[in-house]
Amino acid sequence: MDSYKKNDKTYLIENNSSVVLQSEKVGILHLYINMIRKFYKSILALAVAVNISIGYVAAQDSTSTAAAAPAGGGDAAKGEELFKNNCAQCHAATAEVVVGPGLAGIEERRDYAWIKKWINNPMGVIASGDKYANELYNKYNKTQMTAFGAFGDAEVKAILAYVKSAGAPAVAAPTGGPSTTTAPAETGGGKFINVILVALLVIMGLVLVALLGILQLLNKLSGADAGSADASLSFGEKLQAGLKNVAANKTVRSAIVWAFILLATKATFDGMYGIGVHQGYAPKQPIAFSHKLHAGEMKINCAYCHTGVYKGKQSGIPSANICMNCHNAIKRESPEIQKIYTAIETNKPIEWVRVHNLPDLAYFNHAQHTNVGGLECKNCHGEIEKMEVVQQRSTLTMGWCIDCHRKTEVNGKDNGYYTKLMEAHSAVSKGAMKVKDNGGLECAKCHY
Ligand code: HEC
Ligand code: HEC
Ligand code: HEC
Ligand code: HEC
Ligand code: HEC
Ligand code: HEC
Repeated sequence: MDSYKKNDKTYLIENNSSVVLQSEKVGILHLYINMIRKFYKSILALAVAVNISIGYVAAQDSTSTAAAAPAGGGDAAKGEELFKNNCAQCHAATAEVVVGPGLAGIEERRDYAWIKKWINNPMGVIASGDKYANELYNKYNKTQMTAFGAFGDAEVKAILAYVKSAGAPAVAAPTGGPSTTTAPAETGGGKFINVILVALLVIMGLVLVALLGILQLLNKLSGADAGSADASLSFGEKLQAGLKNVAANKTVRSAIVWAFILLATKATFDGMYGIGVHQGYAPKQPIAFSHKLHAGEMKINCAYCHTGVYKGKQSGIPSANICMNCHNAIKRESPEIQKIYTAIETNKPIEWVRVHNLPDLAYFNHAQHTNVGGLECKNCHGEIEKMEVVQQRSTLTMGWCIDCHRKTEVNGKDNGYYTKLMEAHSAVSKGAMKVKDNGGLECAKCHY
């Protein structure tokens, strides 16, 4: 018996040595392939997790990310600041006319020396009899541009660099709003998602290439065993056979399917979250009225113009008469102010474009939030006093309302109406009374 076993073993080794060797190699290769498969699966799991969490984040109100830093380096960044502080009340960096012409493409229209001279002393250039300057001046109803005598080459070049970068289609806000400086929050998130997806696809690609290599190795080894049959095949045929092998491979097939699924889910998520959500909406208004100037620099109280905001459901948009309190004397010659006169003379109200707009099925009351709740405008609207053009900063979705009602405490300060309620609340619960504890999640409070 003993010798038989021994013989058996020897027999095997003697006669099938190459097969054993071969299957050992194949075994190791299979090990590798399995490792790669596992690695691949974990990447897939990661990809799915990332996709889902991105979807979740996208669903959240992203006002907090609204201040995402605008990209741009060195000169252009400095130029943006200079532009915002000195030029933006009259110029857009795009082709759009504000008070003066849009500055996009200015370097093609005029040479650098002219631009610098003009910025330093526009009236001087006009007085010198410069034909272009005079035509422009007349075209803009002889509106005088402020002189920036102190601007040297560094400042002017920085501004031009900014205008160039902001005017380029890739950098301009996708909503087409002239305020490229306040790009909607979504784009930041969107770019981030794309970077992750591309990175994942690249990794998947690399793994595929590695798999291909191993498969080829496997083929070669089995080919050597099978004899010289392979050698007679042309390169093209070999390639074809290789590709067939790859296509038949389970991992490769599932990789392709997963790549499709990932892309499709992203597209679907993007599409669904976008329905009816107008975050970042900043339409062009019929008059270039600037909150940055009136509410920011001049610090006019919001309620001076939005008279209903502490008293009623609607804030209301001011009538032209409110503007006339000041503009019957200020800047009468400006073409933008002339539009206010025209509205009053022809008795046609100014047709401001509505920015925020809840569907009819929802009820929202300003006084409840600003007066009773003690909230500030910027809790919901962002920093309007910094906006040249009003932009919708919050999503205005139901989730947004509910989320805040879950988190925010009822403002009981100086409010006799709430004193008893709050006592009752603290008797049964340790935490502060939130809006949700006061019916803030009841459907009927928000829906007619
Ligand atoms: C008070 C409004 C106002 C401000 C502020 C202002 N501009 Fe102007 N700008 C104008 C007007 C209006 C014109 C058109 C010519 C005219 O009527 O004087 C103009 C024309 C120009 C032109 C020529 C445009 C063209 O298409 O040829 C350039 C360049 C220019 N401005 C640059 C600037 C820069 C840079 C700043 C900021 C440092 C600035 N402006 C600030 C009102 C302004
Ligand atoms: C409390 C006073 C006040 C009220 C009210 C007011 N403005 Fe102004 N507005 C100003 C001042 C001051 C300026 C800056 C003028 C300057 O640049 O020298 C200005 C500038 C403007 C400009 C830029 C004009 C230009 O050519 O530079 C526009 C447009 C404008 N206001 C529109 C309006 C509209 C529309 C309303 C009503 C909704 C309004 N303003 C209400 C004081 C006021
Ligand atoms: C001088 C008058 C004036 C002042 C002061 C003012 N606004 Fe406005 N506001 C307007 C006018 C005019 C519009 C309509 C045109 C526009 O959208 O720019 C408007 C529009 C708005 C809108 C968008 C309305 C819509 O269509 O959805 C919001 C939000 C807003 N203002 C908030 C504020 C806040 C917050 C402040 C104080 C920081 C403020 N406003 C101060 C005149 C004013
Ligand atoms: C709790 C969130 C919240 C706060 C705080 C808030 N708003 Fe609003 N605001 C909204 C919503 C939501 C709308 C859209 C209402 C609609 O379409 O019926 C809106 C609309 C507006 C409008 C458009 C006209 C209108 O009345 O529908 C103006 C103007 C405005 N808000 C100004 C203000 C000002 C000024 C303040 C601060 C004094 C303020 N809001 C505070 C949520 C808020
Ligand atoms: C930034 C936070 C915030 C957001 C966003 C917000 N709310 Fe509120 N809401 C409050 C607070 C705080 C109160 C409690 C006011 C009080 O009674 O003291 C309140 C109260 C209410 C009430 C009265 C509830 C009651 O118990 O009587 C209604 C209705 C309401 N909100 C509707 C809405 C709707 C609709 C939206 C979205 C369009 C919204 N709110 C968005 C903070 C918010
Ligand atoms: C705090 C206020 C608030 C409460 C509480 C609330 N909703 Fe809403 N709901 C809204 C707002 C605002 C919208 C509109 C959102 C939009 O346009 O995206 C909305 C939209 C909806 C829609 C979608 C309609 C459409 O056009 O797609 C349905 C359905 C709905 N609510 C049902 C409910 C039900 C059921 C409840 C109670 C469990 C409820 N809501 C509680 C504020 C509220």
